[in-house]
Amino acid sequence: MAYRIGIVGGDGIGPEVIAEGLKVIKASGVTFDTVEYDLGGDRYGRDGTVLPDEILDEWRGLDALYLGAVGTPEVPPGLIERGLLLKMRFALDLYINLRPFVLAAEEIDFRVVRENTEGSYAGEGGSLRRGTPHEIATQGSVNTRYGVERAVRFAFDLAMTRRRHLTLVHKTNVLTFSGDLWERTFNEVARDYPDVATAYNHVDAACIYFVQSPQQYDVIVTDNLFGDILTDLGGAVSGGIGLASSANLNPERTGPSMFEPVHGSAPDIAGQGIANPKAAILSGAMMLDFLGESNAAARVVAACADPSTDVEGTVAIGDTVAGLLT
Ligand code: NAI
Ligand code: MG
Repeated sequence: MAYRIGIVGGDGIGPEVIAEGLKVIKASGVTFDTVEYDLGGDRYGRDGTVLPDEILDEWRGLDALYLGAVGTPEVPPGLIERGLLLKMRFALDLYINLRPFVLAAEEIDFRVVRENTEGSYAGEGGSLRRGTPHEIATQGSVNTRYGVERAVRFAFDLAMTRRRHLTLVHKTNVLTFSGDLWERTFNEVARDYPDVATAYNHVDAACIYFVQSPQQYDVIVTDNLFGDILTDLGGAVSGGIGLASSANLNPERTGPSMFEPVHGSAPDIAGQGIANPKAAILSGAMMLDFLGESNAAARVVAACADPSTDVEGTVAIGDTVAGLLT
């Protein structure tokens, strides 16, 4: 049976790179039907639509969502992030943000598991006397035992399928309340995984190790904010933004998971046909893997790493990768 995949090309280079991703998935032999959704900054500019509840309900019946990038310079910052991306993560309970970092030439091969529904991104807080000299703003970090434990368990399970090493990254020496919850939960869950070796890094130290010795990592688990920042650094030390892929997972599969390149809509190069589609293609490979098509996924990843695919132009790269699969 063909998978039903919801497509949000989005803005800027989003549709350009997703077109190549779909081309490559098709070449891998996996059959799928697509349902296209016109959402993002352009759509918002036309009629004010961000993410209607009816579309969210439709998505619940899909097998996966594949997203390019959303956001345009004209849209106020935060509007699309909160109204579309975060709304999608919360409503579909995409509680794991998984990002692979692989650079074979430097023996880098690790995964970051970022908690994706809580922490500083939960929307807790507010402001008082806004715009006055006595203005106050608070933005709390929400950490539940339930939310932390399910992210930590996912990370241990993932480590069991790999080199069996898991590092917790936090800032327990300063964030003593949330850090304590994360550390205790991590240590308690660790008892259920005696075969996994564990480590702990403060997030500032992890930034040094990411640059100096990223080879030491196998799997990392961390909270929403630290994960957001660390994964950009991870991308920068392992091939750059053109290769960074990600998955927003609902591991219980009570609804579709969402797969997207880490980069944004890159308005500076949109429409020129020069964006690197590999981040989108590799996100497509993560989608295939999560759908159970691990052979096809592995073939796509191998094709992207083939030196013959280092050509110029969005379409040319997509064609070359697809050509290796057929
Ligand atoms: P960006 O990732 O779009 O661009 C940063 C730089 O990287 C630019 O110089 C761009 O040309 C380059 N770049 C990005 N992807 C590339 C690719 N595939 N190939 C070659 N070069 C690439 O980040 P920026 O400029 O901060 O944001 C632009 C817009 O995208 C904003 O509206 C932002 O809100 C949105 N955005 C959306 C995301 C999403 O949909 N998940 C994630 C990040 C940003
Ligand atoms: Mg980010």
